[in-house]
Amino acid sequence: MASTDLQRFCDELRAKISIVDVVGSKIKLVRKGREYMACCPFHNEKTPSFTVNEAKGFYHCFGCGAHGDIIKFEMEANGLSFIDAVEKLAHKVGMQLPKFSHESKEEAEKKASAYDIMEMAAKFFEKMLRLPIGREGLDYLYARGFDDAIITKFRLGFAPGNNGLKAQLSSHGVSDKEMEELGLLTIPENKHPHDFFRNRVMIPIVDKRGRVIAFGGRVMDKSQPKYLNSPETPVFNKRRVLYNLNYARDKGFEAKRLIICEGYMDVIAMDKYGIGYAVAPLGTALTEDQIQEAWKVVNEPICCFDGDLAGIRAAVRSVDRVLPILKPGYSLQYAFLPDKQDPDEFLRAKGTEEFIKIITDTMPLKDLLWRKNLEGKLLQTPEQKARVEKDIKEEIAKITDETVRNYYIQEMKAKIYNELRPQQVFFKKQNQEISRKPQKKSMIKTVKTGLDDLVSRYVISALVCYPQLVDEYEERLLNFVVKDPNLKKLYETILDIVHEEPEIKTEDELGQRLDEKYGDAKWRQQVDLRILKKQCPDIIKMRKDLDERIIEVQLKQLDADIRECKRILESGNFDDEDYRRFESLKKERDTLIAENEAF
Ligand code: UTP
Ligand code: MN
Repeated sequence: MASTDLQRFCDELRAKISIVDVVGSKIKLVRKGREYMACCPFHNEKTPSFTVNEAKGFYHCFGCGAHGDIIKFEMEANGLSFIDAVEKLAHKVGMQLPKFSHESKEEAEKKASAYDIMEMAAKFFEKMLRLPIGREGLDYLYARGFDDAIITKFRLGFAPGNNGLKAQLSSHGVSDKEMEELGLLTIPENKHPHDFFRNRVMIPIVDKRGRVIAFGGRVMDKSQPKYLNSPETPVFNKRRVLYNLNYARDKGFEAKRLIICEGYMDVIAMDKYGIGYAVAPLGTALTEDQIQEAWKVVNEPICCFDGDLAGIRAAVRSVDRVLPILKPGYSLQYAFLPDKQDPDEFLRAKGTEEFIKIITDTMPLKDLLWRKNLEGKLLQTPEQKARVEKDIKEEIAKITDETVRNYYIQEMKAKIYNELRPQQVFFKKQNQEISRKPQKKSMIKTVKTGLDDLVSRYVISALVCYPQLVDEYEERLLNFVVKDPNLKKLYETILDIVHEEPEIKTEDELGQRLDEKYGDAKWRQQVDLRILKKQCPDIIKMRKDLDERIIEVQLKQLDADIRECKRILESGNFDDEDYRRFESLKKERDTLIAENEAF
């Protein structure tokens, strides 16, 4: 076996296997910034001076000077010979230590040069972008707001439509076969080979060490497919790679945050807005391997999916991926962008500060798991509820780590008890009816309840947060008077807007209209949108909360009215009308309470 081949094989092992995994399976590591620390396994110590650096792929002990990579560690920690250590590691990732024959030596050399070829291609695309032939690409990138600094950093380029890459690589002695193997050339049967990427803006995908391993190419118009990605090649396994991890890893350690978003452009846009710790899978759903990669940077990466249906689906799919691999301390968090925006669009519209708010205000995995199982399900009969409970239990059973699973079981039990409990079902049902037909009005219309400012503010905030509720609650709110004149005006303006434009569904849409009507955003000071959204992150919770408040106010008012009637009746000076009123007030109170406790 030639020594260079073996070296190459070892390099591959070092690239594939995490030193943290290797050392971590032997001793307990604790993360300190970019490094992991432990008490040194090679000498006796009480305070840790043994460090492991994932990025550099080695361990070092400041106490005894022990130092090495994954192979050295296997040798020293397990008393293995060099070859045995290599074999053991190879086995771990399903690789076979080859007996390098003449042929496979060539293969191995080719593989080493694969990186060189990819690098040549990247350089070529970069150069094309700056030539007249790439003008369209450059203009496209500028139009998207990417400046030269970003273009240089991400090595963006342009693939012309004239088979320029093939010509370039051929002149460097690269064969068509090699180009094809690396996904750079298409060789159709009985036709001339042509460049795989043509007339596209090119985004190189680099591995953790910064080597180009693949490309994504984007069209510059609306044609399809929007992106063309390199196929699987000897140097590119798309299920393992996260775009931008090479940069995001360091930034992520620093910021203690890692964002997983959906697209290349989002990652680049975030970087432009100063958020350098974003990565993206490559056109596929997030895989287990990618989650594991992300976990090497932070314990709870934030999945920031687009606010459209596809984004929500992607989030839900990631729940399935992550459950089986959950382990103590490690999870995913979720951030959803409003109005079907992706991070790129959101940042352009709202800027970094607002974006940070969104990724700080995340939903934990457990809540998404819960919602995933509740979404669109009926929750009225015991059978329906049992079904949901069963689904959730089955889902939790997918967690293989026993400790984590047990906590999930506890947590979900409590949630099932609290939220599937009859009360909410009643609210939900009642509201569904309201949205279809006007709610039966209370029997007594004579007295309108004055809402105190706090409640008014709360109700109005709820309506702004969830404009769909206007339609559902307007009838019921007829019984109330908003006392504060400013809030009253705001309430009436909201009603006007929603009447005029019933298609308004989101806080942003309504907020914008209000800004327009008022001429500025000062009305926002009258409401507490953020606090409320936090308390009631979804419309179900909002309804429940709102119902509780309204009923509370109704009861208080009824009690006051009843007391007043009683006073009149007791005075002896009353007529039939007063008596009937007293009776019906009492009846209304009973009904309200009965409905509230019905289930
Ligand atoms: P998006 O359509 O959200 O792309 O797809 P994007 O990154 O936001 O790009 P712009 O802003 O429209 O330019 C998300 C990711 O899905 C993969 C790509 O990896 C893309 O970044 N994708 C999308 C493909 O692989 N092929 C496609 O045709 C579309
Ligand atoms: Mn986009």
